Amino acid sequence: MAEERIVAGTLHGDQEFEAGLRPRRLAEYIGQEALKTRIAIFIQAALARNDVLDHVLLYGPPGLGKTTMAHVIAHELGTPIRFTSGPAIERPGDLASILTNLGDREVLFIDEIHRLNRQVEEVLYPAMEDFALDLVLGKGPSARSLRLDLPRFTLIGATTRIGLLTAPLRDRFGVIAHLDYYTPAELARVVLRSAAILGTPISPEAAQEIARRSRGTPRVANRLLRRVRDFAQVAGEGVLDLETVRRGLELLEVDGQGLDLTDRRLLEHLARRWGGGPVGLESLAAAIGEEADTVADVYEPYLLQQGFLQRTPRGRMLTPRAYAHLGLVPPPGLLPGEGEPRA
Ligand SMILES: Nc1ncnc2c1ncn2[C@@H]1O[C@H](COP(=O)(O)OP(=O)(O)O)[C@@H](O)[C@H]1O
Ligand SMILES: [Mg+2]
Repeated sequence: MAEERIVAGTLHGDQEFEAGLRPRRLAEYIGQEALKTRIAIFIQAALARNDVLDHVLLYGPPGLGKTTMAHVIAHELGTPIRFTSGPAIERPGDLASILTNLGDREVLFIDEIHRLNRQVEEVLYPAMEDFALDLVLGKGPSARSLRLDLPRFTLIGATTRIGLLTAPLRDRFGVIAHLDYYTPAELARVVLRSAAILGTPISPEAAQEIARRSRGTPRVANRLLRRVRDFAQVAGEGVLDLETVRRGLELLEVDGQGLDLTDRRLLEHLARRWGGGPVGLESLAAAIGEEADTVADVYEPYLLQQGFLQRTPRGRMLTPRAYAHLGLVPPPGLLPGEGEPRA
């Protein structure tokens, strides 16, 4: 797809760009106050006891700072962090070799942990619980099992889909934390911080405008900042004022509610093709040429949170708010007031 992706996907250079903007300390990590308070206490306690930090599970939509938080935790603990992901660990032996190579009290970060396969997951249970690896030697009646000690470590798991995690895995995390969408005020601080790092002058109003249209997501805020900065360099003096930011965002087709082309296409399909629904996730995703997982992980959570979409047992439905936003007339029977944004 040639269309510029602000919300999902990775553009050339985005990863290095993001890494450069990543907060390293808890004090630099903006928002998620309840989570930060809890984590700070756990870290302090672990350090005071000379103990290993409990395993931490972070879940929430993409771009809210799960990977960043994992880095921050390791940094605050003063330990290295090893990085891997659910799909990258194919066989139990792969995980065993990662685990045996950890240093004492190191952090192992497993991104997309809901995508671990079952055999690999079973290696993880004793590792998380007892810092042990159960090996089976030989086959058939002569098979013996052997328990191997592992270094004590902290597992940090991240997932966009907590519902896909098995109960035994979920139960082995001592800390389970949900990351919430950020407020516009918090996102404005993210934008100001990033602009300062990039050396881009920006007015407070311009930062707020970007924040308002970033769908509650720091990653989107940083991406929009990057694009409007490029725009300002070409179109103006390179200074980001409100006017430049508005024109830049218009060019990117990000609307006043922070919805992008794909969001609007999704809502419009629902309105025009299915009369507002209900319609199943798979059909909806197919209609706009996206994977069902992408729709469920990336697009839908924000549309639900903002009250543009409603999930019903029979499928997704448009709300009056969505009709109003699209400038369409809702079908009779749809009650106004349904789909007000959730607090
Ligand atoms: N709390 C935060 N404060 C400042 N910047 C943040 C925060 N959370 C995320 N970011 C920025 O957003 C980007 C995406 O965050 P990331 O941790 O990769 O999200 P996730 O892993 O949840 O998808 C990071 O590069 C970081 O710069
Ligand atoms: Mg991540």
